[in-house]
Amino acid sequence: EESGLSPTWITDILPSVIQDLNRYGVCVVDNFLGSDKAQPILQEVEALHVRGLFEDGQVVSPNVQDQARGIIRGDKITWVTGNEPQCANIRRLVSAVDSIIAKANHHQDAGQLAKYSITWRSRAMVACYPGQGARYVKHVDNPDGDGRCITAIYYINKDWTPEGGGVLRIYPEGNSQVAEIEPLFDRMLFFWSDRRNPHEVLPANVTSRYAITLWYYDQKEREEYLSRASASTAST
Ligand code: OGA
Ligand code: OGA
Ligand code: MN
Repeated sequence: EESGLSPTWITDILPSVIQDLNRYGVCVVDNFLGSDKAQPILQEVEALHVRGLFEDGQVVSPNVQDQARGIIRGDKITWVTGNEPQCANIRRLVSAVDSIIAKANHHQDAGQLAKYSITWRSRAMVACYPGQGARYVKHVDNPDGDGRCITAIYYINKDWTPEGGGVLRIYPEGNSQVAEIEPLFDRMLFFWSDRRNPHEVLPANVTSRYAITLWYYDQKEREEYLSRASASTAST
C-alpha cells in the first residue's frame, strides 16, 4: 500500500537513527511523518479511546494490588496490529517504522545494531496517560533478556506545553546527564530496550497524553528466552 512518504524519506532519516543510537543509545526524530500524516493517526487513536478499548497497563509483578498498580503505571492501553477497522494510518506508521528498523539493522555501518537480527516485533501498544498525575515510575523495558532490543515510541500530542507534564526522562547508563523527551506531536523516539536505558514517564496533567509504542526483538535473545520459559514451565 502507498505510504505517501517521499522516496527519499528513509534515506533522509536513516543516518541520524543509526548514528544517534550508536552514540547515545537514544534517537529523537521530529516531524517524523509530517503533520498531514500524523493528524489522521491521532484521530484513529482518539477513536479507539472513545470506543472504550483502553485498559489498565499491566505491571510485571503479579502481586501488585490495583491501587499500587496505578501508582507504578497509570496509563491505559490497547494493543493493535493495525489491521483492525479504522487503523489504516496506524498501520502505515508501523510499516514506516518497520522499514527504518530493517534498513538500520542491515546497514553496512550499522555499528552496535549489527549484533542483532531483528526479525520480529510486538503489536503496537497505544497508550493514554489520562492526566491527574498519571505516570510510569522508573523502569527498564527489558531488564532480563526477553529479546526486546529497540523500543520505538511515536508521540502525537498537539499543543503540548511543560504544564501538561508527561515528559519521558531517560537515565542512560554510565551517564550523569538525563535526557528529557517531551511527548510532542509527530515525534519519533528510539532507544535500546535493555538496562542501558532506565526511564520514567513524569506525572502527566493533560487529560490525554497519547503514544504508540513498538518493541523490536532480536531473534537469538528471543529464542533463548522462550526456551528458558518453556523449560521452567515443563519443570513445574
Ligand atoms: C509486551 C509485548 C507483544 C504483543 O507485552 O511487552 O511486547 O504483541 N507484547 O502483545
Ligand atoms: C513504557 C514507557 C514511555 C512513554 O510504556 O514502557 O516507558 O513515553 N513509555 O510513553
Ligand atoms: Mn518503558
